[in-house]
Amino acid sequence: MAETLRLESWATAREALRHRDLRQGLYDEGRALMDGVIVNLHGASHTERRRLENRLFRRDTFAYWERELIPTLLEESLATHSLPQGRRDVSDVDIVPVVRHAMLRLAASVAGLDIGSDTADFLRLAGLMARLAAASTVVHATGDKTAIVSNGLAALDEVRSTYLAPSWARREALISDVRSGRRPENDLPRDILTVLLAAREEHGLPTDVIEREVAYFPWVGSHSTSIALVHALHHCFDHDEEQPGTLRTLVDEPDTLQRFVHESLRLHPASPQAVRRAVADGQLPTGHRFAAGDSVVIDMVAANRDASVFGDDADAFNPSRTFADGVTPWGLTFGSGFHACLGQELAGGLPPGQSDGDRLLGAITVMISKLLDAGARRSSLHPPVRDERTTRPTWRTYHVVFDPQFDQQGEPR
Ligand code: HEM
Repeated sequence: MAETLRLESWATAREALRHRDLRQGLYDEGRALMDGVIVNLHGASHTERRRLENRLFRRDTFAYWERELIPTLLEESLATHSLPQGRRDVSDVDIVPVVRHAMLRLAASVAGLDIGSDTADFLRLAGLMARLAAASTVVHATGDKTAIVSNGLAALDEVRSTYLAPSWARREALISDVRSGRRPENDLPRDILTVLLAAREEHGLPTDVIEREVAYFPWVGSHSTSIALVHALHHCFDHDEEQPGTLRTLVDEPDTLQRFVHESLRLHPASPQAVRRAVADGQLPTGHRFAAGDSVVIDMVAANRDASVFGDDADAFNPSRTFADGVTPWGLTFGSGFHACLGQELAGGLPPGQSDGDRLLGAITVMISKLLDAGARRSSLHPPVRDERTTRPTWRTYHVVFDPQFDQQGEPR
């Protein structure tokens, strides 16, 4: 009978994530939406897909997005979500959809979904992505799982007909023009849909797999980043209560803010557990054995708080923490090994001194910096609310005010 091996230490968790005989197991319940999607592939088919898509995740592109695109997307998203309340300087804004939608625009373009300028159209896509996210990660849902998956499949149908079909047709026409020499290759968009359509015959990619893959990127890129950002912002506000003036320091010192973000990522991994299934009998270098068919449940929260790696205060938020060689400040929050997050440097940047070219702060640090610079403070009128629809620790709403007492530098007026 299949057994379940539970791993909690940093060393075992890291080894299990990197073990070739352990395949992805987190999406088995959400298989209808995740079958054939990169994070759910194993072995040669995973390596092949990763090679195809990896080329889109370039540091120079991320650096450009950080400087130019992300601040603009955040500003536009704030304007959209502040409108019902009127002027931003007096309004109380739920920051969760603001950040999620800014990242959704970015991640949808990485995926290759063409989105026009119509706000209602975009908000409809955001609603569909929320349903896809819930269905794909149904393993952690607290509600009726069958209903959540059906709802996700209906959302995928709508994504397919409304957003994917026209984006697909446009790219097929462009690819055909490039192949017949009517256009230069540079005219092709740099996105997942184009890459997969161009490689379709050579890699034998079925239509439904391409559809699910393209539908995966917008929600995974936007939900995980916005959840992580709100956790980090919460720590910034808490820290400021203990040490007044912290928020001003964070605006002035991006490296310090990035350390806050990395420490928060360590404490709050996107998924509290990673799950793997053994495809063969095997053993971890630490000695733990598993048999084919066994499940391996990796407690990411416990691994990221392993006192032997992070110190006796591993449970505490300590942005001044130091790390041994080979230990990342964000722990295993972006995974490790062959499934390690493709969007890691986009979301989290790199610690100082680790990027060869431009300094990468990451979308989370860039957006928090902009928010604090604009005077964002926790709302006392609407306290933050936890999301009870999932066992993933997440804020459902998190209201901030843009305090007119603070100017653009965060200085009290
Ligand atoms: C704070 C934000 C993020 C967190 C915490 C996060 C976390 C993770 C984790 C833990 C994995 C590995 C899953 C596993 O081993 O089972 C992963 C994989 C992945 N992530 Fe992220 N992610 C974030 C942002 C993003 C963004 C912005 C994108 C893209 C726009 C992205 C795209 C992916 C992809 C494509 C994979 C699958 C890689 C593979 O299987 O080879 N992620 N992410």
